[in-house]
Amino acid sequence: MHILIPGGCGFIGSSIAIYLKQNIKNCVVTTIDNLSRNTSYLNEKKLKKHNIKNIKFNLSSDKYLAQADLNRIRADFIIDCCAEPSVEISKANPHLVFNSNLKSTLNLLEIAKKKKSKIIYLSTSRVYSIKKINSLFSKIKYKSKLLKKVKVNENFSVESPVSLYGFTKLSSEILIKEYSFLYNIKYIINRCGVVSGYGQFGKQDQGFLSMWLWRHLNKLKIYYQGFGGYGQQVRDILDINDLCILIKEQLSKIDKINNQTFNVGGGIKNALSLIELTNYSRSITFNNIKIRKKIKTSKYDLRYFVTDNKKVYSKYKWRVKKGLNLIIKETVKSLIQNKKSLHKIL
Ligand SMILES: NC(=O)c1ccc[n+]([C@@H]2O[C@H](COP(=O)([O-])OP(=O)(O)OC[C@H]3O[C@@H](n4cnc5c(N)ncnc54)[C@H](O)[C@@H]3O)[C@@H](O)[C@H]2O)c1
Repeated sequence: MHILIPGGCGFIGSSIAIYLKQNIKNCVVTTIDNLSRNTSYLNEKKLKKHNIKNIKFNLSSDKYLAQADLNRIRADFIIDCCAEPSVEISKANPHLVFNSNLKSTLNLLEIAKKKKSKIIYLSTSRVYSIKKINSLFSKIKYKSKLLKKVKVNENFSVESPVSLYGFTKLSSEILIKEYSFLYNIKYIINRCGVVSGYGQFGKQDQGFLSMWLWRHLNKLKIYYQGFGGYGQQVRDILDINDLCILIKEQLSKIDKINNQTFNVGGGIKNALSLIELTNYSRSITFNNIKIRKKIKTSKYDLRYFVTDNKKVYSKYKWRVKKGLNLIIKETVKSLIQNKKSLHKIL
């Protein structure tokens, strides 16, 4: 089995690449990544140790299709993890996000068409309507039991605004469906919530959980920002290894279960607020740093998001296994293991 992972030197891509290489017999994994993140170099080194080759290439470039290297690659499956995954960066640099997210998907679909590949696309819960999510939760008080009952499923509104990041991901989803219709490409779209765990680095745009922990470990400044600056925003967290297990199951069943879109997240048991994350961070790092306030709310921020996994649970045996305690411990472990290199680049 030949698997191509665009964005394979990122957090999710490299974790999936190594997991599949280790858990599927005779599986050849290749990644394409332009190493646009300075942390991607660390992952590229890790991949090499597992005998996984990265082709350094900008997937949004028009020249790529002619590359001899790409023509030689075999790809029964493409697992698309290529993106600039930050909502806030999409505000600051729309061109970058448009190209890395949407244009790259177009180029990958051209590869899929040529090579008759099946596609698993890593999308995001950020395709859902910001206004509708915030108004859904606006009347519910922090820590209210009602919160447990309110989850977002795949039929939730995707009406704008969804953020420029969300727009590129939603547009990529539509593009995949168009190519699937025209060329019979089988696909799965996973709309992931926050993914964290072992191997995630602590830069702000790489995920708030690892950033919060990194900043505690190193006694750096942090803020509760937006919604009054109380740290009451809530998200559910999915462990990276749980995601890898799901991807393997989806690969093995794609001839039966295909052309579907799933929410994939940590769910209510893995939901936590920033205040709760601060408590975890303090107890695990023994650093009690002062959290400052920034009152102003970003136009893209959500007060609350918890994934409804009902559909993915109904189609696969897969279940969320790893809880918050372990996810946090393992994230801290990998931050400490990489501390030396990370201090140079974060
Ligand atoms: N991490 C999360 O919590 C999360 C949540 C939901 C969805 N996702 C999605 O999962 C995917 C992977 O996210 P991640 O957290 O691993 O991000 P990441 O930034 O760690 O990895 C993305 C990788 O893509 C590469 N890349 C970016 N633009 C490229 C281009 N034009 N050509 C070639 N390579 C390019 C980067 O160098 C990087 O290595 C993304 O599609 C993201 O939208 C992530």
